[in-house]
Amino acid sequence: MIAIGCDHGGYELKQAVMAHLDKRGLEYKDFGCYSEESCDYPEYGRAVGQAVASGEFEKGIIICGTGIGISLAANKVPGVRAALCTDCFTAEATRLHNDANILAMGGRVVGQGLALKIVDTFLDTPFSNEERHIRRIAKIEG
Ligand code: RB5
Repeated sequence: MIAIGCDHGGYELKQAVMAHLDKRGLEYKDFGCYSEESCDYPEYGRAVGQAVASGEFEKGIIICGTGIGISLAANKVPGVRAALCTDCFTAEATRLHNDANILAMGGRVVGQGLALKIVDTFLDTPFSNEERHIRRIAKIEG
């Protein structure tokens, strides 16, 4: 189950991502926002972060205008590893190396076609489970 959230800057892309997840038959819960009315990205980054950190949701997808603000907010939640990706290489690498559990994207940065490929890459790439990556991730958590 995927937790998904955005602010007004990511609303349009989130609609496309949810339609894509529907097409793939993947289950998700939308944590808002629910319109293009101006709102505050930390609320949605935190909500998705808490949903993933609780273990109830396996992965998260968060989108704001740049992807920066909402990923900063999500990463404040202990246990969250939110990765801002603008290409498929980083989406693959952050799963393999960082076991990122939340994908962040900028709705004003990436086009829809690329964004959906990034989503697929992120969701379909397993963690490498290599010792050095496990060790480094443990050091992030402190
Ligand atoms: C909203 O205008 C914008 O600041 C927000 O979507 C995001 O880009 C913040 O990092």
